[in-house]
Amino acid sequence: MATLVALALLAVPVAAQLAPELQRPEVPLGLDLYMPVPDDNPLTHEKVALGRRLFSDTILSRDRRVACVTCHEPERAFTDGRAVAVGIFGRTGTRNVPTLVNRGYGATFFWDGRISTLEAQVLQPIQDRKEMDLTVPDAIERLQDHHDYPALFQAAFGRTITPDDLGWALASYVRTILSGNSRIDRYMNGDRDALSAQARRGLTIFRGQGNCATCHVGPTLTDERFHNTGVAWQEGTLLDQGRYMVTGVEEDRGAFKTPTLRNVDRTAPYMHDGSITTLEEVIDYYDRGGNKNIHLDPELQPLKLAAEEKQALVALLRSLSGTIQEGLPASVIESPRAARHP
Ligand code: HEC
Ligand code: HEC
Repeated sequence: MATLVALALLAVPVAAQLAPELQRPEVPLGLDLYMPVPDDNPLTHEKVALGRRLFSDTILSRDRRVACVTCHEPERAFTDGRAVAVGIFGRTGTRNVPTLVNRGYGATFFWDGRISTLEAQVLQPIQDRKEMDLTVPDAIERLQDHHDYPALFQAAFGRTITPDDLGWALASYVRTILSGNSRIDRYMNGDRDALSAQARRGLTIFRGQGNCATCHVGPTLTDERFHNTGVAWQEGTLLDQGRYMVTGVEEDRGAFKTPTLRNVDRTAPYMHDGSITTLEEVIDYYDRGGNKNIHLDPELQPLKLAAEEKQALVALLRSLSGTIQEGLPASVIESPRAARHP
């Protein structure tokens, strides 16, 4: 068998056999047209399709019951609606499932930014004892024994399955999960009617008195940096040290990565620990200046917003949901809100 494979490889030049057709996803309105893709893992149809299939396959979990999609549900903008994640055998984690939209633009991954590439990131949940609890060698062995995967990996990478290939395929798929074309994008693009008067008022507060745009900035509405907004500070102690566990820098205690706000009306509950249930409560939290602690980011101050100003901010947050597309070519997931506001 091995000889046959070797001969087959010899017979066809590898380049011709792979013929990778490099792709760029069609970037929706409002996002940066340039999405960084690493030179050594260019997007191809084969890789994205393979990653997409793996994303919803329970084969990658020890008990064969949990897939990426179990926690990252497309209908909830790739979150799970729970406060904290629940993995195999009902094991609960300590952190809220973040959305995966536009993570191709991300600089670091996880709430504490402990991983710096998407390729490395996607192998973490497979090995996490509380999520999928499978070693990478075990995962490769299972895929190798599967009736379809060896051929699919061969088509995508031109070789037998390696750990790198598993990460590269999953990362390629995650990169194609994009969300834009929300009401605010259409408004910014010149459609003055796309935002209600209340949401426009919210936008003014978001950029002004609310100080939100200091951290929630740019097309993905995150500075990709880490801030202590006091969420982890409960009853006189920090329940999660956050970024400090990665850097060991004192100021990073209780700091977490600024999350995107796109599709935020579909990703409740909120914050790294899922401790805030509604957008109204998030605004109340910021209005009182967060939970005081010695490492609280100085940008957080009591806002003293009037009730109608708070409502305006919520209206703005609700206008950040657009269509979500994933895969190549773009397959668009129905967005009820976008449908109502064409
Ligand atoms: C049991 C639930 C669960 C499963 C299964 C799971 N994830 Fe996650 N995912 C999470 C949680 C929770 C986090 C945040 C953890 C943290 O920050 O410490 C996360 C974070 C991520 C991130 C980083 C996002 C960011 O903004 O930094 C990516 C990318 C990701 N997951 C992709 C995947 C892929 C790919 C799979 C399948 C191989 C997968 N996840 C399986 C719960 C899950
Ligand atoms: C100093 C930086 C900073 C400022 C200012 C700021 N945020 Fe945040 N925001 C963050 C960080 C960091 C988190 C995550 C905190 C955590 O989970 O511990 C967050 C979380 C959120 C979330 C939850 C998102 C999710 O998916 O869980 C919302 C909504 C939000 N912010 C809206 C706002 C609004 C509205 C304002 C202005 C009133 C604002 N933020 C001001 C940094 C900031």
